[in-house]
Amino acid sequence: MSNKQMIRVGSKNGTVLSEDRLLDLEAKYCSWGDTVHYAEKLNIFKESNGCYLYDRNGVEFLDLQMWYSAANFGYRNKRLNKALKKQVDALPQLACQYLHEEKITLAAKLAQKNERTFEEKGRVHFNVGGSSALEDSLKLVRNYSGRSLVFAFMGGYHGRTLAASAITSSFRYREKFGHFGDRAMFVPFPYCFRCPYDKKKDFCDLYCLKQFEKLFETEYHSVVNKKNAKCEFVAFYAEAIQGTGGYIIPPQDYFLGLKDILDRYGILFIDDEIQMGFFRTGKFWAIEHFNITPDIIVFGKALTNGLNPISGVWAKEKLISPDVFPPGSTHSTFSSNPLGTAAGLEVMRLIEESDFAVSIPKKGRYFLSRLKGLQKKYPQIGDVDGLGLALRVEMCAKDGYTPDKELTDRIVNLGLSGSLSAGGKKRGLVLDVGGYYKNVFTIAPSFYITEKEIDLGIDLFEEALIKALKKQ
Ligand SMILES: Cc1ncc(COP(=O)(O)O)c(C=O)c1O
Repeated sequence: MSNKQMIRVGSKNGTVLSEDRLLDLEAKYCSWGDTVHYAEKLNIFKESNGCYLYDRNGVEFLDLQMWYSAANFGYRNKRLNKALKKQVDALPQLACQYLHEEKITLAAKLAQKNERTFEEKGRVHFNVGGSSALEDSLKLVRNYSGRSLVFAFMGGYHGRTLAASAITSSFRYREKFGHFGDRAMFVPFPYCFRCPYDKKKDFCDLYCLKQFEKLFETEYHSVVNKKNAKCEFVAFYAEAIQGTGGYIIPPQDYFLGLKDILDRYGILFIDDEIQMGFFRTGKFWAIEHFNITPDIIVFGKALTNGLNPISGVWAKEKLISPDVFPPGSTHSTFSSNPLGTAAGLEVMRLIEESDFAVSIPKKGRYFLSRLKGLQKKYPQIGDVDGLGLALRVEMCAKDGYTPDKELTDRIVNLGLSGSLSAGGKKRGLVLDVGGYYKNVFTIAPSFYITEKEIDLGIDLFEEALIKALKKQ
């Protein structure tokens, strides 16, 4: 290709490229495989602050998804950014075989937090992205047991690397990538609004759990040898609240019952807190709502508020002590990078000094009550629910039940068009969509969102909904 045929990028410092030029460059040079091009027109953002993103024309977008719950403590959080800047000027780079204070104290804080909560000793192992930490947890499980098959939930999401895809339920994510011999056995999640067994929540007596228990009744159900009670499956991977699956909250006693069954067969419980951890649900870990102790917790996203990423795994001592999981079992160049550990440590201090256990449930209740108000007005809002500041709005046809993905998409695109006017000026709304039918708004606002901003979010959402309904 001659130089003339190439789209000019511009070489001078400070060159401002037009939006159209940037989109042309993106269409030509960016892989689309590393993202999801859901929106009708792709937005290019320039700045952020608190709960807001700003596009290149200065239009303000209220963000109700906060980078899929990675930026929980608000964009450009002054305190967290300061900690990162301080680390940039002190020790920004360090190979991970050498130690630095922030890594050690961050690991200690997380391990001590779990020791207080679960009365269990354990250790913390770092990596960079959520899927990588998930892979590390699989190595811990395999190393401990010598076995590799696991259970996971239908609707569960654990990432897109090969091993994470094998335990993520969507076949679409695996379809083009060959055979997954270690694919999980997927078990129905207690998604009560759309019960997989067509039961009614208040009368079902946890029928789904009983169906799971039945798998262990005879060796001919293909999971257990009744003669020695040994199970072919070594762990159960779960999100306490399904994230990408549509912020689904299980009935209160479900996990207690599940853990009871797993304990009988020595099956480890692996808690994926990558999306719900660090107070999204009003508790440090979402699993704390359900009074069980996991064997491994996998975390990522909000630990650094989306700044230099750090993910990781906490595991019980028996799984991770250096005697069983020795040096070099799995590691990555950037695993405990100093910029990430410095940000993570400051997040932990911020949490210790804040009252999130009180403020998040309170804000969540207010948000949920406003959503319930909208539900009364619009039959197309089939279900709303929430735990802390993890809220779901399930969009349906007029019958309040048939999933309506088209309506959902129209609302998203109207929000991203930046042409709403609630609150008295031109504005946009950033919403994330999840759910088995891609018809659920998974709402995860900043922890510092105010009641006034929640009201603004409701007004913007209602405006987009009215316009979307008119377009039908
Ligand atoms: C529950 C859960 N697990 C795992 C992952 C994968 O994390 P990452 O995208 O950082 O690889 C995600 C990401 O959305 C998630 O929500």
